Amino acid sequence: MLTKSKVQDFLKEIEVDDLVSNFQVMGDDVYIDMTAHSPAMHEKKKLEVAMKQAFASEFGEHINLKLKIASPELPATPVTNEIKGKQIPGIQNIIAVASGKGGVGKSTVAANLAVTLAKMGFKVGLLDADIYGPSVPTMLDTEGQKPISVEVNGRNLMKPIENYGVKMLSIGYFSGANQAVVWRGPMASKALNQMIRDADWGELDFLLIDLPPGTGDIHLSIIQEVPVTGAVIVSTPQHVALADVRKGIAMFNMESINIPVLGLIENMAYFTPEELPENKYYIFGKQGAQFMAEDLGIPVLGEIPLIQSIREAGDVGRPAALQENSIISDIYIKTAQNMIESLVERNTNLPPTEAVKITTMAGCSPKK
Ligand SMILES: Nc1ncnc2c1ncn2[C@@H]1O[C@H](COP(=O)(O)OP(=O)(O)O)[C@@H](O)[C@H]1O
Ligand SMILES: [Mg+2]
Repeated sequence: MLTKSKVQDFLKEIEVDDLVSNFQVMGDDVYIDMTAHSPAMHEKKKLEVAMKQAFASEFGEHINLKLKIASPELPATPVTNEIKGKQIPGIQNIIAVASGKGGVGKSTVAANLAVTLAKMGFKVGLLDADIYGPSVPTMLDTEGQKPISVEVNGRNLMKPIENYGVKMLSIGYFSGANQAVVWRGPMASKALNQMIRDADWGELDFLLIDLPPGTGDIHLSIIQEVPVTGAVIVSTPQHVALADVRKGIAMFNMESINIPVLGLIENMAYFTPEELPENKYYIFGKQGAQFMAEDLGIPVLGEIPLIQSIREAGDVGRPAALQENSIISDIYIKTAQNMIESLVERNTNLPPTEAVKITTMAGCSPKK
């Protein structure tokens, strides 16, 4: 007969006991709650398969292993968050998605990253801060929706729209886009601040912010007032060598801003015909992003190919990364993993003393 102590010994033997939080044995049913090493879906799948095989060969095929595999806890919010603007309760990591130039696919990348992180089991928000060209409503098929107002602890907050497991807000839900175009910097940043702080985001592992292209006023006001954990820079190979990307990175590196750049995502890195995915055509050269990233000391988080279906998927409001087992979804999972890895590294490598140093720097104190 299968007993709890036999199972316990076996868990130890196969060296997963430290991953198991709870287990029960009822006849031939074994219930196990455990945590994977990595939040990646394929890691969980791998663990599940390995556990099933191990139990079947040790105790026989008739054993019903009922596994519940959780994702590991995300790294704690880094120290820098506390000194940049007011902490936003419930939001663990705020990631700014930026680019030097428009049209490089920043919004497409932000939307695909958001659905990928949600698919990996994270709680994800996406804020469309591109008030001059909001595209989140179209890309995530939520055009024409209107956020409702909800009361939370006596405050009236706007409730983000939700689709594909992603909570989102965009100026596009509130007014005609052409109305926003005439907004000046201060008005725009006020609206954005409201969408961040006066919204019912709830608990989020990640809030991605799709910044407008460039390095203007809005960027400065957002990144000074919002506790951004890290920035991801999107570029295409033809723009990678351009001064814009460096300028973007330099902005985050400014002493008064000091937001870690988590890495570079090279979009439209190569062309690949969908029916021949192993054929890669590096139309704009191959190593640009790698060289620049090395030069600037930041990692390349991912190379996204130029694929017709990415554009089509964006146009119909269903990000390509949602397709199961496609090259695109694999590439986005890898990219998201790299981003998380970079984030973990930054979070653990930022010593607390750094925060003290930063708080004394001019221009860094949050606006009231
Ligand atoms: N990897 C890609 N493959 C094919 N089309 C893409 C890719 N990335 C972006 N696009 C398309 O390029 C256009 C610009 O992308 P968008 O995300 O709106 O750029 P940005 O936000 O930087 O202005 C859109 O039509 C989008 O569908
Ligand atoms: Mg955009």
